[in-house]
Amino acid sequence: MSIAAPNTIVLTEFDREAPVDVPWEDLWHIFVIANDKGGAGKTSLTANLALMLLKQLQAGNPDAGIPGDPDARVLVIDLNAQGNLTVHEFGVPEHLNDDGDSILEALRRGTPLRPVTVRPGLDVIPGGRELKEEIPALYNRLMQAYTLNADLRLLQCLMPIAGDYDYIIIDTPPENPTLQRLAMGAARWVISPSKTDRGSLDGVNEMKRQFELTRRVNPLLTFLGVVLFATGRTSSQIHGKAEGRLRQILGNAYYKFGQHIGHSEAVAQQSRDLDGEPLVALFDRAEKGDTSLPGTVRAVHEDYLQLTNQVTARSAQLKQQIEES
Ligand SMILES: Nc1ncnc2c1ncn2[C@@H]1O[C@H](COP(=O)(O)OP(=O)(O)O)[C@@H](O)[C@H]1O
Ligand SMILES: [Mg+2]
Repeated sequence: MSIAAPNTIVLTEFDREAPVDVPWEDLWHIFVIANDKGGAGKTSLTANLALMLLKQLQAGNPDAGIPGDPDARVLVIDLNAQGNLTVHEFGVPEHLNDDGDSILEALRRGTPLRPVTVRPGLDVIPGGRELKEEIPALYNRLMQAYTLNADLRLLQCLMPIAGDYDYIIIDTPPENPTLQRLAMGAARWVISPSKTDRGSLDGVNEMKRQFELTRRVNPLLTFLGVVLFATGRTSSQIHGKAEGRLRQILGNAYYKFGQHIGHSEAVAQQSRDLDGEPLVALFDRAEKGDTSLPGTVRAVHEDYLQLTNQVTARSAQLKQQIEES
């Protein structure tokens, strides 16, 4: 494979003498979940994918002779100022939740990110209100000093710990091109969840803009596919229409995962109710076949299982194609 990405980058004043080496060949395990519209399913997909990938690694695949890996590790980075994923999906306790301060601090200085452990094998870098105000100005300063390499700032902060994980998944905020670009600069694959409504599909269009801009410094960044989110199980006409629009938006990069995430009022309620349990707990109950859970919750759990298999299969297939090209 000929890697077109820059081998070395200058991202802080200290790097001018000794530019940072980027191990581009070792970054195939980093995913970003992006759609510029809120409510498209980014945070739900991030959390579920992270949990499923971890379980998949821990369980292995005995049929294919792949043993389970008890030391598997997955990292999730929450770039949202709302910190929904940190608090609601993962239930990170207050004393471990720095509201995004460690992300902000790392971006300021180019220093390593500091994960906290949610459960064995699953780490998160908390998001929250610290990500709200300072980042655009910080990004502009980086652009002035390091031009396009500013988009690689989060990657710089992630590199020292990236090798500790089997998968890294980055959840991005809507209507925030700066954080979307920083996330894409640090990733290899982009997945876009989208509802079938116009706003959500337009969000894919905006995502594509940031994707193309970030590819100037991260040319291996690859669009993996769209996932239809919170949609009816039998709405094939609506799905067909959404697919038509997605083809228009994405052109050659168009791909939609065969597995959709079904609509479930019960999932929506559970994940955001004041007294709702964190998704990690709900997930454990679904996995154990808890029949007291509403049927739609168990169905959505199954959707994520299938989707996760499709994500690992497609990324492995595209990786091979890219490496051979
Ligand atoms: N399967 C589902 N069906 C319907 N609503 C869902 C489902 N899963 C999650 N939701 C709800 O959809 C809303 C938006 O999802 P979210 O993942 O937060 O989107 P985003 O991160 O793109 O803003 C949340 O309120 C969530 O509770
Ligand atoms: Mg979100």
